[in-house]
This record gives sequence, C-alpha cells and structure tokens, in this order.
Amino acid sequence: MARYDLNAMQLDLRRELENGFLEESEEMVNTIKMIMSNYESHPKDWESKEKWSDKKYTRTLLDKGNGHYNLMILCWNTGQESPIHNHPKSHCFMKTLKGEVFEELYENPDMTSCCGGKMKKIQDRVYTLNDVAHITDADGLHRVGNKSHVEGAVTLHLYSPPFSSCKKYDDDTGKSTEVPMGYDQDFTEQCCSRSCCEK
Ligand code: SIN
Repeated sequence: MARYDLNAMQLDLRRELENGFLEESEEMVNTIKMIMSNYESHPKDWESKEKWSDKKYTRTLLDKGNGHYNLMILCWNTGQESPIHNHPKSHCFMKTLKGEVFEELYENPDMTSCCGGKMKKIQDRVYTLNDVAHITDADGLHRVGNKSHVEGAVTLHLYSPPFSSCKKYDDDTGKSTEVPMGYDQDFTEQCCSRSCCEK
C-alpha cells in the first residue's frame, strides 16, 4: 500500500476545509488534528522545501487552501524562536516534522491598567517528532522555538482562516505591535499545478 505522504495529507486537508472552518467546531478541530497526526513525517516529502537562515526562522508557503487556510513549513535553526504573538481569529495547527520545539503559552495582557506589565506565562510545552498542537486566541498567546544547540527543527503549520499580519507582544510591557507575516519561499504556484491540489 502506498505510504500516506505529505501530498495525500494535503488532499485530505483540502477536502476537509473546502468550505472553510465551521465557526467553533470542536469536531473540525479534531478532524484536522487527526489528518495531521495520520501523516508520519518523512524528510523526503519536504526536505527540498527547507530553507535555513542564521538570522531568523524561515516560513515557506506550501498551499493557500483555496483561500480558506495557509499551510506552511517553518525551519528553526538552533536557538531560534518566534516573538510572543497571537493568531487573529484563526486556528493554528502545528506538527513537528523534525527535531523538537517548545511552546510557551501566555495570558492575554490586561491593557486596561496603565502599563500592562510583564507577560504572564501560563504553561510550558514541548512537542517531539509527529506531535500535533492546536491553539486559538481563546487559549492564549504563544511563543514557539527550538532550544537545541545541535539540531534544527522543522514544523508544519496550518492557519485557518489565513492571516497576513498578527500582533507581537513585548515580554516586559505586554505592549503589542502589528507585524506583517511574510514568506521566505512560496511553492503555491508549483503546488497547484500538481495532482496534490486537485479536487
Ligand atoms: C509563525 O507562524 O511565524 C509563528 C509560529 C506559530 O504561530 O506557531
């Protein structure tokens, strides 16, 4: 039997999200998690799309999901991490394809007081190979990164609905700044001419 590869997983995601995310559907969250869990990471599927930088983790767009979601690969060099950020009105699913990543979960800062104050961490989590995580702004804000000193990490992210900017938060003051979410590479043209994206 053929291996359930990244293309097959992308097809299932397309099918499941063909009409977008249904409001607050717990069932849909579980189905997306299940689809992403069923795929066992195989470097052959995604290593040609890796991009590594010494300056910052990189973002590579794989699929625009007919406007309903963005699917991307993030490459985290040793010690790289994201700022604390939100996912505006969106579901964030993250699967570890290589290595190990940490996630710090934070409370939404209370900016009704005069100066916010230090960001409050709620939880520390670690995701190892093939783990799938899910977060929305209702759960909190997060920071993701790679603590390893020796091994890079690769993660697969699905954001539905997609967004092109988010808020990043200052650790010490809780002050937020709107930042654009750009890509270091975009494989969507290539992707959509292949069978993986055909309905
Ligand atoms: C990103 O998408 O750039 C940050 C990682 C995340 O939200 O999980």
